[in-house]
Amino acid sequence: MAMKNVMKATLAQGKQTDILFADDLKDLSSHLGGYGRLVMWVFDTNTAKLFKQLPPSHVVLESGEISKNFASLERILSSALDEGLARDGRIIGFGGGVVCDMAAFASSIYMRGCRLTLVPTTLLSMVDAAVGGKTAIDFHGVKNIVGSFYPASEVLICIDTLRTLSDKEFLNGLAEVIKHALLSQDEELYKFLLVKKNEILSRDAKTLAQLVELSLAVKQWYIEQDPTETMGIRQMLNLGHTFGHALESSSHFGQFSHGAAVAWGTCRALEAGVTMQVTDKAYASGATKLFKSYGYQIDHRIGRGDWIEFRDHLLKDKKKVDGKVLFVLLEGQGKAVLKSIEMPLVQHLVIAKPLF
Ligand SMILES: NC(=O)c1ccc[n+]([C@@H]2O[C@H](COP(=O)([O-])OP(=O)(O)OC[C@H]3O[C@@H](n4cnc5c(N)ncnc54)[C@H](O)[C@@H]3O)[C@@H](O)[C@H]2O)c1
Repeated sequence: MAMKNVMKATLAQGKQTDILFADDLKDLSSHLGGYGRLVMWVFDTNTAKLFKQLPPSHVVLESGEISKNFASLERILSSALDEGLARDGRIIGFGGGVVCDMAAFASSIYMRGCRLTLVPTTLLSMVDAAVGGKTAIDFHGVKNIVGSFYPASEVLICIDTLRTLSDKEFLNGLAEVIKHALLSQDEELYKFLLVKKNEILSRDAKTLAQLVELSLAVKQWYIEQDPTETMGIRQMLNLGHTFGHALESSSHFGQFSHGAAVAWGTCRALEAGVTMQVTDKAYASGATKLFKSYGYQIDHRIGRGDWIEFRDHLLKDKKKVDGKVLFVLLEGQGKAVLKSIEMPLVQHLVIAKPLF
C-alpha cells in the first residue's frame, strides 16, 4: 500500500518536504526499497539493531549527542565518496534527532547538496528534529553551533519504529508535543492530549499517528512563516527552552533529560507570565496541570546554593537584547511573545514554592 502523504512543508529557498506516514514497517521498507542502490544509510548503534540485515552502503554512528561532531560528518562523507554516491544519490538518515541532524548536514554539503530522506525513529525527531531543515553539529562544547539549513525532500514516519523506544525517550519527545499544543493557533492538540492521555501513554499506534500529525502541523505553521529563523516567529518554538537549558546544564545533563527540562522550563515561563501580567492565570494553571498529568517533575526547585551556576548558564543564552536574556512567554493559547525578565524574578521563580 502506498504511504499516506500527510503534508508538504515549504521551507528554506522554497524547498518542499513531503511528510509521509507508513502504515507499518512493511509499508516503510517497501517504500525505502524503491530507491534502488543509489543510496547510503546513516544509523546509530541502536537504530542499526532494528534491521536483521543492514543495507549494503551504510555508516553506523555511536548513539547519542557524542556523535554530533566533525569526525562523524567526515565518516559519512568518506563513505559516500567510497561508495561512489553521485549528486543524484540519496542519503537516508534512520534514527533519532542526532542521526537526522548528521545525515542532513552531510547531505547539505556532499557535492554541494544531494538528496535526503529522513526516517525519524524517536518521538522527538518525528515531531521536531526531522522537519524544518535545521542541521548542525556541536563544536568546541557549544551545541548546534555549526550547521546549515537543508530541508529533507522526504520525511517518512512509521509509528511502529517507536516500539523499541524507552519510556524516558518517549517522554522526552512528548514534552515537545505538549509545548506545541500551547503554541498552536487552535486547541485541537491541547484537547487531544487531555482526552487521549491513556492511549498516548500506552502508545496506541493509531493515537500516536494522530498525535504526531497534529504536533507536526504546529511546527509547520511556525517554520513556513519563518523558514530560516530570521523573522522572530520560529524563535517562539523555543518556549520553555531558556529556563530548560539552564536546568539541563546546571544539573550536568544527569537528572533531567532535555524534554523533562523543557516541560519544567515551560511551567516557569507560564509563572513568569502570570507574575508579569502577560499570561492569563487560569490558562497557566491548566497548562501546568497538563504537564503534571503526564508525569513531569514540574515542582522541582533549584537549591539556593545552585542559583549562581543556574544564572550563569541562563546568561549564556543566545536570545539577548542589551545584555538581557529574552524569554518566550505566552499571552494565551498560541500567542507567544519575547520578553526580558528581571533576574530577581527569575531567581524567585526557580527557588520559591511553585505558583500552581
Ligand atoms: N534539527 C532540528 O530542528 C532539531 C530539533 C530538535 C532537536 N534536534 C536535535 O536532536 C537531538 C535529540 O534528538 P533525540 O532525542 O531523538 O536523540 P537521539 O537521536 O540521541 O535518540 C535518543 C536515543 O534513542 C535511541 N533511539 C533512537 N530511535 C530508537 C528506537 N526506535 N528504538 C530504540 N532506541 C532508539 C538513540 O540511539 C539514542 O540513544 C539533539 O541533538 C538536538 O539538538 C534537532
